[in-house]
Amino acid sequence: MKFILQARKYAQILGCNLSTKVAILASGTGTNAEAVLEYAEAHPEFYQVVGVISNKRDAAVLAKAEKYSMPAIHIPHRDQSEQIQQLEAWSAQWACLAGYMRIVTSDFLRFFFDEERGYARVINIHPSLLPRFPGLDAYGQAFASGESESGITVHLVDEKMDHGPILLQKSFPRNEDDDLEAFMARGRAIENSLYVEALVGLLKGEIQPRAQGKTVARKN
Ligand code: GRF
Repeated sequence: MKFILQARKYAQILGCNLSTKVAILASGTGTNAEAVLEYAEAHPEFYQVVGVISNKRDAAVLAKAEKYSMPAIHIPHRDQSEQIQQLEAWSAQWACLAGYMRIVTSDFLRFFFDEERGYARVINIHPSLLPRFPGLDAYGQAFASGESESGITVHLVDEKMDHGPILLQKSFPRNEDDDLEAFMARGRAIENSLYVEALVGLLKGEIQPRAQGKTVARKN
């Protein structure tokens, strides 16, 4: 904690924007949520996490958030207005969906809408090279397709599932002798750092959203 306060003080002196407040919404294990939390702890000059909401009462992500002394709250997805009230109470400016298994409402997107940027400040990570394989079980879909390459996408969130403009993509191969587990492990090894890279790049203005289908995937 002492380290964080000191880092904030120095960053303020250097004129960095410390006020960027990020909330996380997740439904499951929370490895991506943890990556976002970990980065904030190490680099408070870029953003701070204000809290974690899970729509699942027993999601492991809630315990992970507590490890970082974060407010971690269960609010069911049917109570999205309650979620918005909580986000407002935290003064959240950005939302990171990190394995949040629900579509957000237009009210939610309106709450995060940024006039200047022209989009809602809500991002998501999806385990395929969108627009290929949106929706549930993307690893399974991509594996079953037999395509020799898949990847991970971080994108802006809009009203449709896994549909918004792309921020970053990274591809990985499907090897001939892969089973689903090996294939997924290759993707999971990419996800956490790619999510943080996209968030920080977006906050720093180094990444511009691009319509789906117009992005060239990076190989490494
Ligand atoms: C990840 O595969 C992510 O890409 C997808 O849901 C999964 C969440 O995993 N949207 P975790 O809870 O972050 O470990």
